[in-house]
Amino acid sequence: MKKILFFLFVIATVTTTFADEGMWIPMLLGKNEADMQKQGMRITAKDIYDINNACLKDAVVLFGGGCTGEYVSKQGLLFTNHHCGYSQIAARSTLEHNYLANGFWAKSFSEEIPCPGLTVTRLVRMEDVTTQVLEGISNDMDEKERNALINENIKKIGDKAVEGTHYKAVIKPFYYGNQYFMYINEVFSDVRLVGTPPSNIGKFGGDTDNWMWPRHTGDFSVFRVYADKDNKPAPYSADNQPYKPLKHLTISLKGAEQNDFTFVFGYPGTTQRYITSDAVELIANVTNPVRIALRTIRLDHYNNAMNQDAAQRLKYSSTVASIANGWKKWQGETIGVNRLEVPKMKREFEQKFQQWANDKPEYRDVLPQLAQNYATLKPLELKRTYFNEAVMASDFMKRAYAMWQLESILDNEEAKAHCEKLIKTNEKYFTDFEKHTIVDKAIFIETFTYMWQKGFAPYLDKKCHSKADVEKLLSNVYEKSMLTHKDKVISFLKSYNSKKKSKIRKDPAVDLFNTAHSYTFGEEYKLGELIDLNNHRDTYRTAQDNISRLMRIYVKGMMEMQPDVNFFPDANLTLRVAYGHVDGFKPKDGVSYKPYTTIEGIMQKENPDIYDYVVEPRLKELYNNKDFGTYTNSKGELPVCFIATNHTTGGNSGSPVINADGQLIGLNFDRCWEGTMSDILFDPEYCRNITLDIRYCLFIIDKFAGAQNLINELDIAK
Ligand code: ARG
Ligand code: ASP
Repeated sequence: MKKILFFLFVIATVTTTFADEGMWIPMLLGKNEADMQKQGMRITAKDIYDINNACLKDAVVLFGGGCTGEYVSKQGLLFTNHHCGYSQIAARSTLEHNYLANGFWAKSFSEEIPCPGLTVTRLVRMEDVTTQVLEGISNDMDEKERNALINENIKKIGDKAVEGTHYKAVIKPFYYGNQYFMYINEVFSDVRLVGTPPSNIGKFGGDTDNWMWPRHTGDFSVFRVYADKDNKPAPYSADNQPYKPLKHLTISLKGAEQNDFTFVFGYPGTTQRYITSDAVELIANVTNPVRIALRTIRLDHYNNAMNQDAAQRLKYSSTVASIANGWKKWQGETIGVNRLEVPKMKREFEQKFQQWANDKPEYRDVLPQLAQNYATLKPLELKRTYFNEAVMASDFMKRAYAMWQLESILDNEEAKAHCEKLIKTNEKYFTDFEKHTIVDKAIFIETFTYMWQKGFAPYLDKKCHSKADVEKLLSNVYEKSMLTHKDKVISFLKSYNSKKKSKIRKDPAVDLFNTAHSYTFGEEYKLGELIDLNNHRDTYRTAQDNISRLMRIYVKGMMEMQPDVNFFPDANLTLRVAYGHVDGFKPKDGVSYKPYTTIEGIMQKENPDIYDYVVEPRLKELYNNKDFGTYTNSKGELPVCFIATNHTTGGNSGSPVINADGQLIGLNFDRCWEGTMSDILFDPEYCRNITLDIRYCLFIIDKFAGAQNLINELDIAK
């Protein structure tokens, strides 16, 4: 019964928002303030975002290009997730100083490790610039013309806004271009690694536990931002000082219990809340299954290699973490979309919309036209998915791609620079070639063969009649290509000049890549110019342009049809607030999850034979002695993670999870697998964000690592 009721509720509200659904714009949080306070919040919208005074937003930053971080001390100390710092930690690790495996703790400022390339971005202020961006735009312009004028306007508005300052302006579309906001940012580039737990804490449970509840991952790392003597951003310099943030977060050790209000303040990347039924079908039931199948092949090979020795584990860790992350999320997403029958729900809404639109010329044709364009897009998108996940699966083919690019470079200097880059990539490929060749060759052959079996490499049919034929052909390509012979490829690149251009395509790997590429994209390089074969490329681009124009109209129509609904704009890597409450959930029949985990669960999961479940002796000792310091909950347990109904997505990792009083109680790092369709539709019964309890984080810093220097810097509420 409950299910039926819920379903009816879902149909009725498919474009209105569910309880707890939404990622809200900080500047407009006034609209949500009453609701947030009704749910338990004791601070105001102005405490969160205020253009005239230091407020919580000054403590929240974009970490790198796709995570969130927050200041926790007046000396620029920053918390984020372990998986957000992962590539930095890995890049600084060697087999002798393996910070990934063993952790790292700077005991003084001078021991902190610079991280070239890493940036931290603070939002100074934001502004609605819709009118200025759309100046001169008229309805009879085609998309190309329209976009060109918009980009011109954006450039002008942005340049003017930051003139004479060190700030950077970013202007982004909202609601598919019905609204535009400008973000004035301050970008810091001297960021240093301060501390990280070992992987078997920071990534405890690895990819097995990723996206799962109950969770026991200590997913945090610690950085520090440095600035010049005027507290302004500056490139790395030994003379830089720890940055003094306008605001840093106060930490509460009280935690949050069932039903307690929490909010997440951070940088969600992408959601697709308003897409049509066809678009949902395309993602959940057409492209996701292909991506999943092909990544399964790759992961099997990498995991097998990683289990063989520490060197291979270090080599593949980062790649595997990222391949596995999408692979697992898409599985949950497809199951969730189909369980909720999202396409059916959307179709029902589309019928209502159509009825409403029938007498409105602006909206009447939008849905039929969207359907038409999706029909055009679907087969092309599928080809592209095979290309990305099969053709580009191996390092072998990625290098073939780089060679193929070389062929198209006409300028001698440019070609030379490209060769130099390629020499480096190739040298790297060959450093552990014997081991890597087994893995990479197998991935190349198996993914390509799978693609052929599914009918997406028909160009092999001329020479192959069976799977064995295909495997043999691919194996020959691998063996005969210069890309598998170090001396040949390096000497070719070193002595490359335009006369050798014709030789590139003669290489069987480059030839195969070229064939796969023109089959997929319908374009081919001729004398440095991309030629569109059979209007294939144009068809794809036109369909995409049409869809973006039509979605702009469709979303505008939805809002007009339901004037009382507070629509949240899809995530677009801008600062947002999501709020909800701590809550367990029922993932399936007969199973009910509690909203928090404790160190007991770490001991239950311990398995010295499985890399991801090894428990450090030091952690065991603390556990055995119940040496938990001041970090326990009211029951005397050491909490590790908790879940809540905050609507989050990729990019929200590292976001502060904040209590009713505006204090930090945890770091957001994941979602529960059963609710990963929340990028498409949020379901309050299943969607939960996973937070690292700040008490476990501080316990690790204090008791496990003995880094009291860091604890002393924090502002812990009494
Ligand atoms: N699923 C989380 C997110 O989407 C964490 C990913 C990192 N962890 C991992 N085991 N791969 O980013
Ligand atoms: N783990 C994600 C991130 O890195 C968060 C999520 O997708 O829920 O941002």
